[in-house]
Amino acid sequence: MSTQTLRYAVIGAGGISATHLNGIATQPGVEVVGISDPADPAKWRTPDGYGHVPKFTDPEKLLRETKPDLVSICTPNKFHASLTELALAHGAHVACEKPMAMTLAEAEAMEAARAKAGKHGAINFSYRNVGAFRFARELIARGDMGKLLRVNCVYLQSFLGAPAQPYTWRNDVSLAGFGALGDLGVHMLDGVSFITGLECQRVVGLAQTLIPEKPDAAGKSQRITTDTNAAWLSELTGGVIGCFETSQVAPGYGNFFRIELSGESGTLAVQSDTPDALWLRAGPTLTRYGTWQTDIPKQVLPTEYMRNFTPVTPGGIVRAIRGEANAEYPSFADGLSAQRVLDAIGRSMASQAWVTIG
Ligand SMILES: NC(=O)c1ccc[n+]([C@@H]2O[C@H](COP(=O)([O-])OP(=O)(O)OC[C@H]3O[C@@H](n4cnc5c(N)ncnc54)[C@H](O)[C@@H]3O)[C@@H](O)[C@H]2O)c1
Repeated sequence: MSTQTLRYAVIGAGGISATHLNGIATQPGVEVVGISDPADPAKWRTPDGYGHVPKFTDPEKLLRETKPDLVSICTPNKFHASLTELALAHGAHVACEKPMAMTLAEAEAMEAARAKAGKHGAINFSYRNVGAFRFARELIARGDMGKLLRVNCVYLQSFLGAPAQPYTWRNDVSLAGFGALGDLGVHMLDGVSFITGLECQRVVGLAQTLIPEKPDAAGKSQRITTDTNAAWLSELTGGVIGCFETSQVAPGYGNFFRIELSGESGTLAVQSDTPDALWLRAGPTLTRYGTWQTDIPKQVLPTEYMRNFTPVTPGGIVRAIRGEANAEYPSFADGLSAQRVLDAIGRSMASQAWVTIG
């Protein structure tokens, strides 16, 4: 296992850069050698403690001058593919934000470039860090739920609909590629596949833009060119039906991501805002009216489990680069799987028909 100092750089210094710095730069033996963002550094959202780190506006100059071993790509989606390929060409491993790319072709090219360079490539599917999600995955993997029968997944936010939230790059299809589908839907796709092990076989989808325009920071009205709402129906491995719904503009919802599933032995649900608990009712099906329950009980995760729980992303890639046994992280291959389904949903919407994947 290598103990050499790992030279680490970040491209894109907005909101999510703090998650990368907190997850990667805080690990032993990691030195932050540079941060690049074209915006005024006064607007950067990097956490405290990195003010002394060399600042760049040009990512190529950052890579050439600082020679990092690992680079986080934390920019709007449009730049994920080109910056990943640039970082790989400069000999770095890459931890890229989600969605992996704007198109399936871009994501495939990123994975091909990574494989050719022989480097690690991670996609920050952050919900893999939620204790309850990992616990549910373990229950299912060891067969406690029996054969899986159904999946229902919702991810609802409201912040893009809030009057106080100005028009952003997230509302511009040329920068974001997708709206709710790529922003939230990609977490749903990875979350369901991570927890259940089921893969999407075919899909039919629908999307719409419920808020057609909103003012930018200067008060000028801008047209929203991304979807704000989307829903899709999937046939998952073994014929399991998966229902998915997402919105960036669902009034009243802050950040509500829930995956519910039933297996032969019961029903369970996990929620992003409740990392230390899940909803679970196991046992034989209740059939008599007298015994019907109105809800699935909430159960706190075993204290021992939460005490021993180690988040995997985005820092898992550091342990993998060091050659640690059992180091894990969501890979470019995982990002590509989700991108394949996003692409199929897009083709389904265009053709108004089911699309088979693979
Ligand atoms: N994994 C998660 O849960 C999660 C959460 C939030 C955001 N994200 C993803 O992170 C990425 C960034 O989102 P954010 O919320 O930080 O956005 P943001 O708007 O807060 O920040 C984006 C930053 O990128 C900079 N930028 C723009 N073009 C650039 C370029 N070519 N090179 C370098 N920097 C550039 C901008 O100046 C800005 O500082 C997106 O892909 C988004 O989907 C992921």
